[in-house]
Amino acid sequence: MRDRIVAGNWKMNKDWDQALSLVADIQQSLSQETTNSDKIILAPPFIYLAELAKTVAQTQGLFLSAQNCHQEEAGAYTGEVSAPMLKALGVEYVILGHSERREYFSETNELLASKVEAVLNQNLKPIFCCGEPLSVRESNMQEAYVNQQLTESLFKLSAERISEIVIAYEPIWAIGTGRTASAEQAQEMHASIRSHLADQYGHDIAQGISILYGGSCKPSNANEIFAGADVDGGLIGGASLNAADFLAIARSFE
Ligand code: PGA
Repeated sequence: MRDRIVAGNWKMNKDWDQALSLVADIQQSLSQETTNSDKIILAPPFIYLAELAKTVAQTQGLFLSAQNCHQEEAGAYTGEVSAPMLKALGVEYVILGHSERREYFSETNELLASKVEAVLNQNLKPIFCCGEPLSVRESNMQEAYVNQQLTESLFKLSAERISEIVIAYEPIWAIGTGRTASAEQAQEMHASIRSHLADQYGHDIAQGISILYGGSCKPSNANEIFAGADVDGGLIGGASLNAADFLAIARSFE
């Protein structure tokens, strides 16, 4: 019923030749052996999207995402990229609120609410990231922290619009650190997120929203993490830079 999704967040990695060969490897592998994911999403740097959109469109089940976008449709915002620009290229998803954007580019819950709206206005799907820093986890306040991120950035949306969103839970202490949340910790937080969504939007809508786990997810732990009843896939950083690892993760659903 919910989409099972594996998304690769390349961040600021891969030169153009490497990007082409990674996508070619992924497509070749998918032509030989399918995965049990419903959707595989690639989120390369902005400047690769236009060209990759042409090749990705040829592979069923493969989609493109941006890693960010600006909240305004157009204007004097030097260096920025808008949601209408992404839409015109054939991009279908936009990662919003990644912890690196929150930390290094001062993105607040309030700013993210306007980015989410800008993305939905173009009929693009946000992959909305949430997750707590280590200090919050150590004081066992992670559920309240994540609930606040969701409330402040998403809960002004109508029921119809929230249904277009994918959520990615990424505990900051697990991103790029090699330290993964345990399968129990992931499932516990995903269930909490779903119950917070249900309180606001009702059971049926909450049940339809895919919630991905991110943070040092790799072929050796994906199967266990994805087995959680409320875990619908992963947002993958480091392991998405290698086609074999990324697709092994995309084959990790039961
Ligand atoms: P990681 O990154 O898989 O390298 O930990 C995940 C993310 O930042 O989305």
